[in-house]
Amino acid sequence: MRQSSLVVVANRLPLDDSAARDGACEWRRSPGGLSGALHAILQQTPATWVGWDGEVGLAPRLPDLGAVRLRPVALTAAEQAGYYEGFANSTLWPLYHDAVQQPVFQREWWETYRSVNQRFAEAAAEVAGKHAAVWVQDYHLQLVPQMLRELRPDLLIGFFMHVPFPPPELFMQLPRRVELIRGMLGADLVGFQREQAAHNLAQLAQKLLGAEASDDAIIVDGRTVRTGAFPVSIDVAEMRALATRPDVVKQVEQLRHDLGEAKRVLVSVDRLDYTKGIEHRLTAYRELLRDGHVKVRDTVLVQVAVPSRERVESYRELRDRIEGEVGRINGEYGRVGEPAIHYLNQPFTRAQLAALYQTADVMVVTPLRDGMNLVAKEFVAAREDGAGALVLSEFAGAAAELSQAFLVNPHDVDDLKQTLLRALEASPEDRAARMEAMRRHLAEHDILAWARAYLTELDHTGRLARRFIGR
Ligand code: ADP
Ligand code: F6P
Repeated sequence: MRQSSLVVVANRLPLDDSAARDGACEWRRSPGGLSGALHAILQQTPATWVGWDGEVGLAPRLPDLGAVRLRPVALTAAEQAGYYEGFANSTLWPLYHDAVQQPVFQREWWETYRSVNQRFAEAAAEVAGKHAAVWVQDYHLQLVPQMLRELRPDLLIGFFMHVPFPPPELFMQLPRRVELIRGMLGADLVGFQREQAAHNLAQLAQKLLGAEASDDAIIVDGRTVRTGAFPVSIDVAEMRALATRPDVVKQVEQLRHDLGEAKRVLVSVDRLDYTKGIEHRLTAYRELLRDGHVKVRDTVLVQVAVPSRERVESYRELRDRIEGEVGRINGEYGRVGEPAIHYLNQPFTRAQLAALYQTADVMVVTPLRDGMNLVAKEFVAAREDGAGALVLSEFAGAAAELSQAFLVNPHDVDDLKQTLLRALEASPEDRAARMEAMRRHLAEHDILAWARAYLTELDHTGRLARRFIGR
Protein backbone atom coordinates (compact mmCIF):
# COMPACT_ATOMS: atom_id res chain seq x y z
CA MET A 1 0.00 0.00 0.00
CA ARG A 2 1.38 3.42 -0.99
CA GLN A 3 1.85 5.82 1.88
CA SER A 4 0.99 9.51 2.04
CA SER A 5 2.28 12.43 4.05
CA LEU A 6 -1.28 13.74 4.54
CA VAL A 7 -4.14 11.41 5.45
CA VAL A 8 -7.73 12.49 5.97
CA VAL A 9 -9.95 10.14 7.95
CA ALA A 10 -13.70 10.70 7.73
CA ASN A 11 -16.71 8.46 8.11
CA ARG A 12 -17.63 8.83 4.44
CA LEU A 13 -15.62 8.73 1.26
CA PRO A 14 -16.71 11.51 -1.08
CA LEU A 15 -18.03 9.00 -3.59
CA ASP A 16 -21.19 8.55 -5.51
CA ASP A 17 -22.74 5.28 -4.26
CA SER A 18 -23.23 3.71 -7.68
CA ALA A 19 -19.96 5.00 -9.04
CA ALA A 20 -18.10 3.40 -6.18
CA ARG A 21 -19.19 -0.08 -7.24
CA ASP A 22 -18.41 -0.01 -10.94
CA GLY A 23 -15.15 1.82 -10.50
CA ALA A 24 -16.10 4.82 -12.63
CA CYS A 25 -15.50 7.36 -9.92
CA GLU A 26 -16.69 10.90 -9.67
CA TRP A 27 -16.41 13.11 -6.64
CA ARG A 28 -19.57 12.63 -4.68
CA ARG A 29 -21.08 15.85 -3.48
CA SER A 30 -23.09 14.04 -0.87
CA PRO A 31 -25.67 16.23 0.81
CA GLY A 32 -23.63 16.96 3.87
CA GLY A 33 -21.24 19.69 4.86
CA LEU A 34 -18.16 17.62 5.62
CA SER A 35 -17.48 15.89 2.33
CA GLY A 36 -18.33 19.04 0.38
CA ALA A 37 -15.86 21.07 2.41
CA LEU A 38 -13.03 18.56 2.17
CA HIS A 39 -13.74 17.87 -1.48
CA ALA A 40 -12.95 21.48 -2.26
CA ILE A 41 -9.46 21.34 -0.81
CA LEU A 42 -8.38 17.82 -1.61
CA GLN A 43 -9.05 17.44 -5.32
CA GLN A 44 -5.55 18.48 -6.28
CA THR A 45 -3.76 17.09 -3.26
CA PRO A 46 -1.64 13.94 -3.11
CA ALA A 47 -3.33 12.85 0.10
CA THR A 48 -5.11 9.65 1.10
CA TRP A 49 -8.74 9.72 2.23
CA VAL A 50 -9.76 6.90 4.56
CA GLY A 51 -13.51 6.37 4.79
CA TRP A 52 -16.60 4.22 4.30
CA ASP A 53 -18.25 4.05 0.86
CA GLY A 54 -21.78 4.06 2.28
CA GLU A 55 -22.60 0.42 1.39
CA VAL A 56 -22.38 -2.69 3.54
CA GLY A 57 -20.18 -5.60 2.60
CA LEU A 58 -16.68 -5.95 1.25
CA ALA A 59 -14.73 -2.78 0.59
CA PRO A 60 -14.73 -2.00 -3.15
CA ARG A 61 -11.51 -1.54 -5.10
CA LEU A 62 -11.31 2.12 -5.85
CA PRO A 63 -9.13 4.00 -8.28
CA ASP A 64 -7.58 7.32 -7.31
CA LEU A 65 -9.87 10.29 -7.51
CA GLY A 66 -7.85 13.01 -9.17
CA ALA A 67 -4.74 13.25 -7.04
CA VAL A 68 -6.38 11.73 -3.97
CA ARG A 69 -6.01 8.08 -3.07
CA LEU A 70 -8.98 6.37 -1.50
CA ARG A 71 -8.67 3.80 1.25
CA PRO A 72 -12.12 2.29 1.86
CA VAL A 73 -13.09 0.91 5.24
CA ALA A 74 -15.69 -1.88 5.03
CA LEU A 75 -18.68 -2.10 7.37
CA THR A 76 -20.99 -5.03 7.93
CA ALA A 77 -24.74 -4.50 8.26
CA ALA A 78 -24.44 -4.95 12.04
CA GLU A 79 -21.68 -2.33 12.16
CA GLN A 80 -23.67 0.12 10.09
CA ALA A 81 -26.50 -0.33 12.59
CA GLY A 82 -24.42 -0.14 15.79
CA TYR A 83 -21.74 2.36 14.84
CA TYR A 84 -23.27 4.72 12.22
CA GLU A 85 -27.02 4.58 12.85
CA GLY A 86 -26.64 3.71 16.52
CA PHE A 87 -23.92 5.34 18.59
CA ALA A 88 -22.96 8.06 16.07
CA ASN A 89 -26.40 9.13 14.88
CA SER A 90 -28.80 8.12 17.63
CA THR A 91 -26.61 8.83 20.68
CA LEU A 92 -23.94 11.44 19.87
CA TRP A 93 -25.73 13.40 17.12
CA PRO A 94 -28.85 14.30 19.13
CA LEU A 95 -26.90 14.86 22.35
CA TYR A 96 -24.42 17.19 20.64
CA HIS A 97 -27.31 19.14 19.11
CA ASP A 98 -28.74 20.24 22.47
CA ALA A 99 -30.77 17.01 22.73
CA VAL A 100 -33.44 18.60 20.49
CA GLN A 101 -34.34 14.94 19.92
CA GLN A 102 -33.98 12.51 22.83
CA PRO A 103 -30.57 10.73 22.60
CA VAL A 104 -30.80 6.94 22.78
CA PHE A 105 -28.25 5.08 24.92
CA GLN A 106 -27.96 1.42 23.96
CA ARG A 107 -25.09 -0.40 25.61
CA GLU A 108 -24.41 -2.79 22.75
CA TRP A 109 -23.72 0.07 20.32
CA TRP A 110 -20.63 1.14 22.24
CA GLU A 111 -18.58 -1.95 21.47
CA THR A 112 -19.35 -1.63 17.75
CA TYR A 113 -18.47 2.08 17.78
CA ARG A 114 -15.18 1.26 19.50
CA SER A 115 -14.22 -1.57 17.15
CA VAL A 116 -15.12 0.40 14.00
CA ASN A 117 -13.04 3.33 15.30
CA GLN A 118 -10.18 0.86 15.79
CA ARG A 119 -10.52 -0.27 12.16
CA PHE A 120 -10.38 3.31 10.92
CA ALA A 121 -7.29 3.93 13.08
CA GLU A 122 -5.59 0.83 11.68
CA ALA A 123 -6.39 1.85 8.10
CA ALA A 124 -4.95 5.32 8.72
CA ALA A 125 -1.84 3.85 10.34
CA GLU A 126 -1.33 1.65 7.28
CA VAL A 127 -1.45 4.46 4.71
CA ALA A 128 0.36 7.19 6.68
CA GLY A 129 4.04 7.68 5.87
CA LYS A 130 6.67 8.25 8.55
CA HIS A 131 5.88 11.48 10.47
CA ALA A 132 2.82 12.08 8.29
CA ALA A 133 -0.04 14.34 9.33
CA VAL A 134 -3.37 12.58 9.88
CA TRP A 135 -6.50 14.71 10.04
CA VAL A 136 -9.43 12.91 11.68
CA GLN A 137 -12.93 14.31 11.16
CA ASP A 138 -16.06 14.47 13.26
CA TYR A 139 -18.03 12.71 15.96
CA HIS A 140 -18.15 9.34 14.22
CA LEU A 141 -14.44 8.89 14.86
CA GLN A 142 -13.89 10.42 18.24
CA LEU A 143 -11.77 7.52 19.53
CA VAL A 144 -9.47 7.41 16.51
CA PRO A 145 -6.91 10.05 17.61
CA GLN A 146 -5.91 8.13 20.74
CA MET A 147 -6.00 4.73 19.00
CA LEU A 148 -3.81 6.09 16.23
CA ARG A 149 -1.32 7.58 18.67
CA GLU A 150 -0.92 4.16 20.26
CA LEU A 151 -0.33 2.54 16.87
CA ARG A 152 1.87 5.28 15.42
CA PRO A 153 3.44 7.67 17.95
CA ASP A 154 5.47 9.30 15.15
CA LEU A 155 2.39 10.89 13.53
CA LEU A 156 1.12 14.43 13.81
CA ILE A 157 -2.58 13.99 14.60
CA GLY A 158 -5.34 16.55 14.09
CA PHE A 159 -9.00 16.19 15.00
CA PHE A 160 -11.78 18.46 13.80
CA MET A 161 -15.33 18.38 15.14
CA HIS A 162 -17.78 19.64 12.51
CA VAL A 163 -20.80 19.52 14.80
CA PRO A 164 -21.40 21.43 18.06
CA PHE A 165 -19.59 20.14 21.12
CA PRO A 166 -21.96 20.41 24.08
CA PRO A 167 -21.55 21.91 27.55
CA PRO A 168 -20.77 19.57 30.47
CA GLU A 169 -24.42 19.52 31.63
CA LEU A 170 -25.30 17.61 28.46
CA PHE A 171 -22.07 15.71 27.79
CA MET A 172 -22.04 14.28 31.32
CA GLN A 173 -25.12 12.21 30.43
CA LEU A 174 -23.02 10.01 28.13
CA PRO A 175 -22.32 6.58 29.59
CA ARG A 176 -18.86 6.41 27.93
CA ARG A 177 -17.89 10.02 28.54
CA VAL A 178 -14.34 9.41 29.84
CA GLU A 179 -13.32 7.23 26.90
CA LEU A 180 -14.76 9.76 24.44
CA ILE A 181 -12.81 12.66 25.96
CA ARG A 182 -9.62 10.59 26.12
CA GLY A 183 -10.12 9.56 22.50
CA MET A 184 -10.20 13.13 21.20
CA LEU A 185 -7.29 14.15 23.38
CA GLY A 186 -5.09 11.68 21.52
CA ALA A 187 -4.77 14.48 18.93
CA ASP A 188 -2.12 17.20 18.88
CA LEU A 189 -4.75 19.77 17.90
CA VAL A 190 -8.50 19.57 18.47
CA GLY A 191 -10.41 22.04 16.29
CA PHE A 192 -14.01 23.20 16.66
CA GLN A 193 -16.36 25.54 14.83
CA ARG A 194 -16.81 27.84 17.83
CA GLU A 195 -14.68 28.94 20.79
CA GLN A 196 -17.43 27.92 23.19
CA ALA A 197 -16.84 24.29 22.19
CA ALA A 198 -13.14 24.49 23.11
CA HIS A 199 -14.20 25.96 26.46
CA ASN A 200 -16.62 23.04 26.95
CA LEU A 201 -13.86 20.52 26.25
CA ALA A 202 -11.52 22.24 28.72
CA GLN A 203 -14.15 22.06 31.43
CA LEU A 204 -14.81 18.39 30.71
CA ALA A 205 -11.12 17.50 30.70
CA GLN A 206 -10.77 19.15 34.12
CA LYS A 207 -13.86 17.50 35.50
CA LEU A 208 -13.44 14.00 34.09
CA LEU A 209 -9.67 13.61 33.89
CA GLY A 210 -8.47 16.14 36.44
CA ALA A 211 -6.41 17.67 33.62
CA GLU A 212 -4.88 21.11 33.69
CA ALA A 213 -6.88 22.88 31.01
CA SER A 214 -7.47 26.30 29.47
CA ASP A 215 -9.55 27.22 26.41
CA ASP A 216 -6.56 26.75 24.11
CA ALA A 217 -4.52 23.94 25.69
CA ILE A 218 -5.10 20.82 27.78
CA ILE A 219 -2.33 18.84 29.46
CA VAL A 220 -3.03 15.13 29.47
CA ASP A 221 -0.53 12.39 30.37
CA GLY A 222 2.24 15.00 30.26
CA ARG A 223 1.38 15.95 26.66
CA THR A 224 -0.08 19.29 25.59
CA VAL A 225 -3.12 19.11 23.35
CA ARG A 226 -3.91 22.42 21.67
CA THR A 227 -7.51 23.40 21.02
CA GLY A 228 -9.15 26.22 19.09
CA ALA A 229 -11.91 27.47 16.81
CA PHE A 230 -11.58 27.19 13.03
CA PRO A 231 -14.97 27.96 11.43
CA VAL A 232 -15.35 25.81 8.35
CA SER A 233 -16.41 27.36 5.06
CA ILE A 234 -17.21 26.63 1.41
CA ASP A 235 -15.58 26.78 -1.98
CA VAL A 236 -16.59 30.37 -2.65
CA ALA A 237 -14.92 30.48 -6.06
CA GLU A 238 -16.81 27.36 -7.20
CA MET A 239 -20.18 28.74 -6.13
CA ARG A 240 -19.51 32.14 -7.72
CA ALA A 241 -18.44 30.52 -10.97
CA LEU A 242 -21.53 28.29 -10.99
CA ALA A 243 -23.81 31.24 -10.33
CA THR A 244 -22.73 33.03 -13.50
CA ARG A 245 -22.63 29.97 -15.79
CA PRO A 246 -24.99 30.54 -18.73
CA ASP A 247 -26.96 27.32 -18.15
CA VAL A 248 -27.44 28.24 -14.48
CA VAL A 249 -28.58 31.75 -15.39
CA LYS A 250 -31.14 30.12 -17.73
CA GLN A 251 -32.29 27.84 -14.93
CA VAL A 252 -32.82 30.87 -12.69
CA GLU A 253 -35.02 32.48 -15.35
CA GLN A 254 -36.96 29.26 -15.78
CA LEU A 255 -37.46 28.79 -12.03
CA ARG A 256 -38.62 32.38 -11.65
CA HIS A 257 -41.06 31.85 -14.49
CA ASP A 258 -42.32 28.55 -13.09
CA LEU A 259 -42.78 29.96 -9.58
CA GLY A 260 -44.62 33.05 -10.84
CA GLU A 261 -42.68 36.13 -11.98
CA ALA A 262 -44.44 38.48 -9.60
CA LYS A 263 -44.19 36.28 -6.54
CA ARG A 264 -41.91 36.70 -3.56
CA VAL A 265 -39.94 33.48 -3.20
CA LEU A 266 -38.73 32.01 0.08
CA VAL A 267 -36.29 29.11 -0.21
CA SER A 268 -35.03 26.54 2.32
CA VAL A 269 -32.51 23.78 1.59
CA ASP A 270 -31.75 21.20 4.26
CA ARG A 271 -30.87 17.61 4.84
CA LEU A 272 -34.07 16.15 6.24
CA ASP A 273 -32.87 16.28 9.84
CA TYR A 274 -34.64 17.23 13.08
CA THR A 275 -31.82 19.66 13.91
CA LYS A 276 -32.71 21.82 10.90
CA GLY A 277 -35.91 23.24 12.39
CA ILE A 278 -38.09 22.39 9.37
CA GLU A 279 -41.19 21.77 11.47
CA HIS A 280 -40.87 25.08 13.35
CA ARG A 281 -40.47 26.85 10.01
CA LEU A 282 -43.58 25.21 8.59
CA THR A 283 -45.56 26.19 11.68
CA ALA A 284 -44.46 29.81 11.28
CA TYR A 285 -45.33 29.78 7.58
CA ARG A 286 -48.75 28.23 8.21
CA GLU A 287 -49.54 30.92 10.78
CA LEU A 288 -48.42 33.68 8.41
CA LEU A 289 -50.84 32.28 5.83
CA ARG A 290 -53.58 31.87 8.42
CA ASP A 291 -53.17 35.43 9.68
CA GLY A 292 -53.18 36.78 6.12
CA HIS A 293 -49.66 38.28 6.40
CA VAL A 294 -48.62 36.10 3.48
CA LYS A 295 -50.90 35.20 0.58
CA VAL A 296 -50.51 32.33 -1.83
CA ARG A 297 -51.17 34.62 -4.78
CA ASP A 298 -48.07 36.74 -4.06
CA THR A 299 -45.67 34.56 -2.03
CA VAL A 300 -44.38 31.00 -2.26
CA LEU A 301 -42.07 28.79 -0.20
CA VAL A 302 -39.73 26.24 -1.81
CA GLN A 303 -38.60 23.65 0.72
CA VAL A 304 -35.88 21.25 -0.43
CA ALA A 305 -35.38 18.48 2.12
CA VAL A 306 -32.93 15.89 0.85
CA PRO A 307 -33.38 12.37 2.30
CA SER A 308 -30.90 11.59 5.06
CA ARG A 309 -30.23 8.66 7.46
CA GLU A 310 -33.49 7.08 6.42
CA ARG A 311 -32.84 3.81 8.24
CA VAL A 312 -32.95 5.66 11.57
CA GLU A 313 -36.49 5.66 12.93
CA SER A 314 -36.53 9.25 14.16
CA TYR A 315 -35.65 10.43 10.63
CA ARG A 316 -38.42 8.37 9.06
CA GLU A 317 -40.90 9.72 11.59
CA LEU A 318 -39.74 13.26 10.94
CA ARG A 319 -40.24 12.81 7.22
CA ASP A 320 -43.78 11.58 7.76
CA ARG A 321 -44.57 14.55 10.00
CA ILE A 322 -43.09 17.09 7.58
CA GLU A 323 -44.84 15.61 4.56
CA GLY A 324 -48.11 15.50 6.48
CA GLU A 325 -47.75 19.15 7.44
CA VAL A 326 -46.81 20.28 3.90
CA GLY A 327 -49.86 18.39 2.62
CA ARG A 328 -52.09 20.05 5.21
CA ILE A 329 -50.80 23.54 4.41
CA ASN A 330 -51.16 23.04 0.67
CA GLY A 331 -54.58 21.48 1.16
CA GLU A 332 -55.79 24.39 3.22
CA TYR A 333 -54.15 27.37 1.53
CA GLY A 334 -53.07 26.27 -1.97
CA ARG A 335 -55.02 27.00 -5.15
CA VAL A 336 -55.17 25.03 -8.40
CA GLY A 337 -51.72 25.40 -10.00
CA GLU A 338 -50.58 27.50 -7.02
CA PRO A 339 -49.34 25.51 -4.02
CA ALA A 340 -48.35 27.40 -0.89
CA ILE A 341 -45.22 25.25 -0.60
CA HIS A 342 -43.19 23.42 -3.22
CA TYR A 343 -41.69 20.47 -1.38
CA LEU A 344 -38.79 18.53 -2.95
CA ASN A 345 -37.42 15.44 -1.23
CA GLN A 346 -34.55 14.77 -3.65
CA PRO A 347 -30.86 15.42 -4.22
CA PHE A 348 -29.91 18.43 -6.36
CA THR A 349 -26.77 19.01 -8.41
CA ARG A 350 -24.47 21.89 -7.45
CA ALA A 351 -25.70 23.81 -10.51
CA GLN A 352 -29.35 23.32 -9.54
CA LEU A 353 -28.57 24.53 -6.02
CA ALA A 354 -26.76 27.60 -7.39
CA ALA A 355 -29.86 28.39 -9.49
CA LEU A 356 -32.23 27.89 -6.59
CA TYR A 357 -30.20 30.14 -4.29
CA GLN A 358 -30.43 32.90 -6.88
CA THR A 359 -34.18 32.48 -7.17
CA ALA A 360 -34.71 33.31 -3.49
CA ASP A 361 -35.93 36.69 -2.34
CA VAL A 362 -35.49 35.33 1.15
CA MET A 363 -33.34 32.32 2.04
CA VAL A 364 -34.61 30.74 5.25
CA VAL A 365 -31.96 28.86 7.24
CA THR A 366 -33.35 28.16 10.68
CA PRO A 367 -31.72 25.14 12.39
CA LEU A 368 -32.42 24.59 16.06
CA ARG A 369 -28.72 23.86 16.44
CA ASP A 370 -26.03 23.49 13.77
CA GLY A 371 -22.24 23.26 13.93
CA MET A 372 -21.87 25.69 11.02
CA ASN A 373 -24.49 25.43 8.22
CA LEU A 374 -22.85 25.67 4.85
CA VAL A 375 -26.13 26.27 3.01
CA ALA A 376 -26.20 29.81 4.45
CA LYS A 377 -22.69 30.45 3.13
CA GLU A 378 -23.48 28.91 -0.27
CA PHE A 379 -26.49 31.21 -0.62
CA VAL A 380 -24.38 34.30 0.08
CA ALA A 381 -21.64 33.19 -2.32
CA ALA A 382 -24.19 32.51 -5.08
CA ARG A 383 -25.66 36.04 -4.90
CA GLU A 384 -23.44 37.70 -7.48
CA ASP A 385 -26.32 40.14 -7.97
CA GLY A 386 -25.90 41.37 -4.38
CA ALA A 387 -29.63 40.91 -3.77
CA GLY A 388 -31.61 38.52 -1.58
CA ALA A 389 -32.08 38.40 2.18
CA LEU A 390 -30.85 35.72 4.55
CA VAL A 391 -32.90 34.73 7.60
CA LEU A 392 -30.48 32.82 9.80
CA SER A 393 -30.82 31.01 13.10
CA GLU A 394 -28.79 32.34 16.03
CA PHE A 395 -28.09 28.68 16.79
CA ALA A 396 -26.14 28.00 13.60
CA GLY A 397 -22.36 28.40 13.82
CA ALA A 398 -22.62 30.59 10.70
CA ALA A 399 -24.46 33.29 12.68
CA ALA A 400 -21.22 34.29 14.42
CA GLU A 401 -19.76 35.24 11.03
CA LEU A 402 -22.83 36.29 9.04
CA SER A 403 -24.05 38.72 11.67
CA GLN A 404 -25.65 40.98 9.04
CA ALA A 405 -28.25 38.32 8.29
CA PHE A 406 -31.75 38.68 9.74
CA LEU A 407 -30.96 36.67 12.87
CA VAL A 408 -33.72 34.72 14.54
CA ASN A 409 -34.46 32.38 17.43
CA PRO A 410 -36.21 29.50 15.60
CA HIS A 411 -37.60 28.06 18.84
CA ASP A 412 -39.73 31.20 19.12
CA VAL A 413 -42.38 30.89 16.42
CA ASP A 414 -43.49 34.52 16.86
CA ASP A 415 -39.92 35.74 16.37
CA LEU A 416 -39.68 33.49 13.32
CA LYS A 417 -42.85 34.97 11.82
CA GLN A 418 -41.79 38.55 12.49
CA THR A 419 -38.30 38.01 11.13
CA LEU A 420 -39.62 36.39 7.95
CA LEU A 421 -41.86 39.41 7.43
CA ARG A 422 -39.02 41.84 8.17
CA ALA A 423 -36.83 40.12 5.60
CA LEU A 424 -39.64 40.00 3.03
CA GLU A 425 -40.40 43.68 3.51
CA ALA A 426 -36.86 45.05 3.90
CA SER A 427 -35.86 47.75 1.45
CA PRO A 428 -33.60 46.78 -1.45
CA GLU A 429 -30.92 49.11 0.00
CA ASP A 430 -31.02 47.41 3.40
CA ARG A 431 -30.79 43.96 1.87
CA ALA A 432 -27.96 44.99 -0.45
CA ALA A 433 -25.91 46.50 2.39
CA ARG A 434 -26.30 43.34 4.47
CA MET A 435 -25.45 41.11 1.53
CA GLU A 436 -22.38 43.11 0.63
CA ALA A 437 -20.99 42.86 4.16
CA MET A 438 -21.57 39.09 4.25
CA ARG A 439 -19.99 38.61 0.83
CA ARG A 440 -16.95 40.60 1.89
CA HIS A 441 -16.50 38.36 4.92
CA LEU A 442 -16.89 35.20 2.88
CA ALA A 443 -14.41 36.26 0.21
CA GLU A 444 -11.72 36.32 2.92
CA HIS A 445 -12.92 33.24 4.76
CA ASP A 446 -13.35 30.47 2.23
CA ILE A 447 -12.58 26.78 2.58
CA LEU A 448 -8.93 27.21 1.64
CA ALA A 449 -8.50 29.78 4.41
CA TRP A 450 -10.04 27.29 6.85
CA ALA A 451 -7.73 24.43 5.88
CA ARG A 452 -4.72 26.74 5.82
CA ALA A 453 -5.47 28.08 9.29
CA TYR A 454 -6.00 24.59 10.73
CA LEU A 455 -2.96 22.95 9.15
CA THR A 456 -0.73 25.89 10.05
CA GLU A 457 -1.78 25.58 13.66
CA LEU A 458 -1.26 21.82 13.47
CA ASP A 459 2.37 21.83 12.31
CA HIS A 460 3.33 25.34 13.47
CA THR A 461 5.54 25.83 10.42
CA GLY A 462 3.03 26.44 7.62
CA ARG A 463 4.80 23.71 5.63
CA LEU A 464 1.79 21.40 5.57
CA ALA A 465 -0.52 24.21 4.44
CA ARG A 466 1.90 25.36 1.71
CA ARG A 467 2.38 21.85 0.42
CA PHE A 468 -1.25 20.79 0.45
CA ILE A 469 -3.29 23.94 0.18
CA GLY A 470 -0.94 26.19 -1.75
CA ARG A 471 -1.19 29.96 -2.13
P1 ADP B 1 -25.00 19.27 7.25
O1 ADP B 1 -23.52 19.15 7.30
O2 ADP B 1 -25.67 19.08 8.56
O3 ADP B 1 -25.64 18.43 6.22
P2 ADP B 1 -24.65 21.90 5.97
O4 ADP B 1 -25.63 22.99 5.69
O5 ADP B 1 -23.40 22.37 6.62
O6 ADP B 1 -25.39 20.80 6.84
O7 ADP B 1 -24.25 21.19 4.64
C1 ADP B 1 -25.20 20.66 3.78
C2 ADP B 1 -24.57 20.44 2.43
O8 ADP B 1 -25.42 19.57 1.70
C3 ADP B 1 -24.42 21.72 1.63
O9 ADP B 1 -23.19 21.72 0.94
C4 ADP B 1 -25.59 21.66 0.66
O10 ADP B 1 -25.35 22.26 -0.59
C5 ADP B 1 -25.77 20.17 0.47
N1 ADP B 1 -27.19 19.87 0.16
C6 ADP B 1 -28.27 20.25 0.85
N2 ADP B 1 -29.40 19.84 0.24
C7 ADP B 1 -29.02 19.20 -0.86
C8 ADP B 1 -29.71 18.53 -1.90
N3 ADP B 1 -31.05 18.46 -1.95
N4 ADP B 1 -28.98 17.98 -2.88
C9 ADP B 1 -27.64 18.03 -2.85
N5 ADP B 1 -26.93 18.64 -1.89
C10 ADP B 1 -27.60 19.22 -0.90
O1 F6P C 1 -21.01 17.23 10.03
C1 F6P C 1 -22.25 16.67 9.95
C2 F6P C 1 -22.36 15.36 9.18
O2 F6P C 1 -22.51 14.25 9.98
C3 F6P C 1 -21.19 15.14 8.29
O3 F6P C 1 -20.24 14.27 8.84
C4 F6P C 1 -21.81 14.67 7.04
O4 F6P C 1 -21.22 15.30 5.95
C5 F6P C 1 -23.24 15.16 7.08
O5 F6P C 1 -23.52 15.44 8.40
C6 F6P C 1 -24.22 14.21 6.40
O6 F6P C 1 -24.45 13.08 7.20
P1 F6P C 1 -24.33 11.57 6.75
O7 F6P C 1 -22.90 11.31 6.42
O8 F6P C 1 -24.83 10.82 7.92
O9 F6P C 1 -25.20 11.42 5.53
